[in-house]
Amino acid sequence: MQTVTINNLTKKFGSTVAIDNLSLNIKKGKITGLIGADGAGKTTLLRTIIGLLLPSEGEIDVLGFNPETQKNELNLHIGYMPQKFGLYEDLTVIENLNLYADLKQVPHDFEKMLEFTSLAPFQDRLAGALSGGMKQKLGLACTLLGNPEFLLLDEPSVGVDPISRRDLMKMVRNMISPETTVLWSTAYLDEAHSFDTAVVLDKGKVIYEGKPHDLAHTPQEFENKVIDLMGGYNKEESLIAKNYDYKAPDVELTVEADNLEKRYGSFYAVKNNTFKIKKGEIFGLLGPNGAGKSTSFKMMCGLAKPTSGTARIMGIDIIKHPAKARSNLGYMAQKFSLYGSLTVRQNLDFFALVYGISILKRKAKVDEIIEVFGLKEYEKCPAEELPLGLKQRLSMAAALIHNPPVLFLDEPTSGVDVLTRRDFWNHITSLAKKGVTILVTTHFMDEAEFCDRISLFYKGQTVAIGTPEELKQKAGANDMETAFINLIKESEVDK
Ligand SMILES: Nc1ncnc2c1ncn2[C@@H]1O[C@H](COP(=O)(O)OP(=O)(O)OP(=O)(O)O)[C@@H](O)[C@H]1O
Ligand SMILES: [Mg+2]
Repeated sequence: MQTVTINNLTKKFGSTVAIDNLSLNIKKGKITGLIGADGAGKTTLLRTIIGLLLPSEGEIDVLGFNPETQKNELNLHIGYMPQKFGLYEDLTVIENLNLYADLKQVPHDFEKMLEFTSLAPFQDRLAGALSGGMKQKLGLACTLLGNPEFLLLDEPSVGVDPISRRDLMKMVRNMISPETTVLWSTAYLDEAHSFDTAVVLDKGKVIYEGKPHDLAHTPQEFENKVIDLMGGYNKEESLIAKNYDYKAPDVELTVEADNLEKRYGSFYAVKNNTFKIKKGEIFGLLGPNGAGKSTSFKMMCGLAKPTSGTARIMGIDIIKHPAKARSNLGYMAQKFSLYGSLTVRQNLDFFALVYGISILKRKAKVDEIIEVFGLKEYEKCPAEELPLGLKQRLSMAAALIHNPPVLFLDEPTSGVDVLTRRDFWNHITSLAKKGVTILVTTHFMDEAEFCDRISLFYKGQTVAIGTPEELKQKAGANDMETAFINLIKESEVDK
């Protein structure tokens, strides 16, 4: 039995071919993983399947409906979680759930959902005040309400911490019936490896379809195989690092967080964050969703006022001399924060201008960055229309365009494809070798291994600090993911 039958589907946007003569069946009662490079056509495919976009050519049948002409009937049978789920930011967690339950006409029975998402203690918090990962979990909870026959999830695990990612998977597996069909787009290849079927898209075509285990038997091998299928990644020296023209700092301690605290009413988003980073170090601030990582980042670059404590960038106090401290800093926010209506090139031109890159060098610099980050074919595209992975590339590019000695990267690789993830880390490690200091956070535990030191942060406080090896030893674990989970759980027991 098929839930979806697609024959010779083509979808064009102007002269761009997003889906190219694609035929595909999606089996009922199975979980199918959708994988592909940024811009490969995953979101377009999902949106065409549910009738949000109309095909340029070809036919689609979904649960016996034609999404082109029977979108409303089809809607009653599906649950769709888009990349940016439409939470009502000025309603609380529980009000969002109530609202979606009413829309789907299902009972207000959220206990299991709240438990699975760990959102129970935050029921009365405004959705807009949730951390990135908490929002993602609430979005999934709303999508699962009413047990739809066909679930389409567009990268639901973006920004979700390793513990919650397992919970999310359990949540979907436990809450669906054996007849439910799931189409799950993901950049996590360990996730895709655990599904019944994997579909790899490239430039709008299916380049692999089959059981993940037929391609490789371990998740790591699977990742390597998929990377090969996608054409391999760039192993050359980072051009960004090579041409990074900056003045090496003459201080040894480039970044210091000094008893940082942030309170909202009686709630401590950050209770105490203290660490020191040396020149050229890659320092990872890791922790579960809502730990207070982004809040720390924001305080450290002067975007949020600490309740107490301070931070110093190159020895300059961010509270006393915010402009001077910030001039040493490139910051990539977790939430896309560039100008949506400006094109890729206009955004980069703008940042080059405000960061004072001389008019003579500006064009060459912007050209180089567009080239290195693979943005050439999108340079005239308004930033808000970019696929998520490309938005991330643009944000990263904008953060380092002025070659600052210190980089703050808040989940740079969330939502980018597996090849670009390796590319980003190639830039990060090469920059660090040149003496650039990097504070970074990620929910990919394989990336945590690239950090020189890690602070494991939970509920606003440091749980452990050390090299990846030290943390693994402390946790009695062989890999970072297990170390992360063990150390967080141990800290719960301690309390
Ligand atoms: N304006 C606010 N009012 C109330 N609580 C807030 C506000 N802003 C943030 N918080 C809370 O502070 C906590 C820390 O949030 P933060 O965004 O720093 O987490 P995070 O570690 O970056 O998580 P993630 O991994 O999901 O990005 C969360 O519980 C969040 O809901
Ligand atoms: Mg965050």
